[in-house]
Amino acid sequence: MYRSPITRQAPFRLAAFHKMLTGRILGSGAYLPERRLGNQELALTIDTSDEWIQARTGIAARHIAASDQNTSDLATLAAMRAVSNAGIAATDLDLIIVATTTPDQTFPSVATMVQHRLGCKPIGAFDIQAVCSGFLYAIATANNFIKAGAAKRVLVIGAEVFSRIVDWQDRGTAILFGDGAAAIVLGAEDAESGRGCLGFKLCADGQFHDLLQVDGGPGFAHGQVGKVRMQGKEVFKHAVQILSTVSDEILAQYSLQSAQVDWVIPHQANRRIIEASAEKLGIPIERVIITIAEHGNTSAASIPLALHQGLSDGRLQPGQLVMLQALGGGFTWGAGLIRI
Ligand code: UT7
Repeated sequence: MYRSPITRQAPFRLAAFHKMLTGRILGSGAYLPERRLGNQELALTIDTSDEWIQARTGIAARHIAASDQNTSDLATLAAMRAVSNAGIAATDLDLIIVATTTPDQTFPSVATMVQHRLGCKPIGAFDIQAVCSGFLYAIATANNFIKAGAAKRVLVIGAEVFSRIVDWQDRGTAILFGDGAAAIVLGAEDAESGRGCLGFKLCADGQFHDLLQVDGGPGFAHGQVGKVRMQGKEVFKHAVQILSTVSDEILAQYSLQSAQVDWVIPHQANRRIIEASAEKLGIPIERVIITIAEHGNTSAASIPLALHQGLSDGRLQPGQLVMLQALGGGFTWGAGLIRI
């Protein structure tokens, strides 16, 4: 087949001028609602105790949104802090992705509400629903926009008011969940700088549908708002196995060893799950950022809350390698590697 010299040379010319891009964290922010519900107060309404909750989950308290606060309110506050921390203006953003399972309404998306309240330009804005893995799915998507050259500054938010879908009479779930939001700004970075996202591995398997679900909601399958239903023991067992497997897989994908990981930032579901997965991975617990005690399981907000904590208290330093890990309803799960 005849190929003109121009066609043959074009890809080489393009490669010479086209920088490989990746997303680097430019700033972060978080917001927890004022109302703090401690274990002892919770034990006044259900048959449980502070000792049991602390020992079996590592949770001391969770935060509950006020009745006039919705996910978009929490998300906007976290987003404003992240944008300010990144040292940019909201008008510099060119994409907003919100990970949430508890949107204010079926539509419009929470992301469009945040876009309007921040005073952004009419940029792309959409929600992602992958429950507790939502932030991982969102940051992976944001990074792909950056890699493709389709966005330079992306606001990625995890925000939930899970308290609205918790059955407060069910001690198997009421002790675990809480409300909160956290956000990061991901900015385009020359991949050769050695900083930014290395990559992500996202997975899902719907065969686990019944182990963790809401028996209602905007899907209309049940004709009711619905509450979280969980077979806790089963989820626990699968979570430890799945999280250590996906962590090994992503390390192998990038030819890295667990000893090269400076920090693990896991989804904050249960301290015992976090400890067991870290042990299987061979990472000392001192190198895992754990914030569950103060806010419980905030679903899609939990990884960015821990990430923000690590960035703001100085544990996470430029150049360090961080692994994100999550598992949630579906099941959905995944892992990611980022150089701060
Ligand atoms: O973010 C999405 C992923 N979600 C998760 O990862 C959650 C996974 N699961 C868990 O975190 C744990 O399974 C729970 C914290 C939900 C439960 O802990 P467990 O160690 O699996 O407890 P269990 O269900 O096996 O129950 C042990 C005992 C039982 O009593 P008996 O039968 O031994 O007498 C329960 O009735 O603890 C009892 N129990 C409680 N006692 C006090 C169960 N829940 C409570 C409670 N307070 N809240």
